Amino acid sequence: MSVNKEIKKITTNTLQKMKANGEKISMLTAYDFSFARLFDEAGLDVILVGDSASNVMAGHETTLPITLDQMIYHASSVIRGTNRALVIVDLPFGSYQSNSEVALASAIRIMKETGAHGLKLEGGEEIIDSVKKIVSAGIPVMGHLGLTPQSIYKFGTYNVRAKEEAEANKLKKDVQLLQEAGCFGVVLEKIPAQLAKEVTESLTIPTIGIGAGGYCDGQVLVMHDMLGINSEFKPRFLRQYLTLATDIKNAVQHYINDVKSQDFPNEKESY
Ligand code: KIV
Repeated sequence: MSVNKEIKKITTNTLQKMKANGEKISMLTAYDFSFARLFDEAGLDVILVGDSASNVMAGHETTLPITLDQMIYHASSVIRGTNRALVIVDLPFGSYQSNSEVALASAIRIMKETGAHGLKLEGGEEIIDSVKKIVSAGIPVMGHLGLTPQSIYKFGTYNVRAKEEAEANKLKKDVQLLQEAGCFGVVLEKIPAQLAKEVTESLTIPTIGIGAGGYCDGQVLVMHDMLGINSEFKPRFLRQYLTLATDIKNAVQHYINDVKSQDFPNEKESY
């Protein structure tokens, strides 16, 4: 199915309708104006300003160090490049876990200072009061369960989550709580495809999978991974659409050679 050009602006209601109609939702991360504009023009449904910016933009090992101010910087750049896509921003680690008042204050800062359309929070029962508080302020919230990278030091590995019954049962309970709390959707990261299927079928809100198989209502990938900028990262769930790391390095080497050999700039490239 190609891009639905009839849709002028994607909203959370559009995603709801897509689930009801069986139309899959496309989502990618973006962190700056230029890529957001390209993705929006390509017809992407949802842009996630992920806290994976901490890894792919800032070079940190985990998502934990990124700050609220840094997320606001990335999100406002993305918003300036977007016309049609729904833009969702991650609340970073430390900006919502302590209590629901803190969570709401962080949420309001992002919404006010960036113009984003909604927020994503990691966790289930533990953060449900914060989800309710933010939703009751009129801010759309997306959940995130399974492998939640802000809890990497609790998990100890980036392996598939919820393979055991106890963790799968907790996830099933959490996802219902998030739906009841008013979330408009939920990301399911690195869980077995059959569990994602069961969860997806049990919900009225859409699920967006990353490493969660083909039964989810939509898919999300980190842009640097799918474009092959981050060429060393090759998990099983990733489909790499370009090999930009190689192309960019070749282009830069070509440029270096042209500068050194005085081929660049030539007369036509001079004033
Ligand atoms: O921060 C991020 O990029 C994410 C996606 C992996 C879902 O949360």
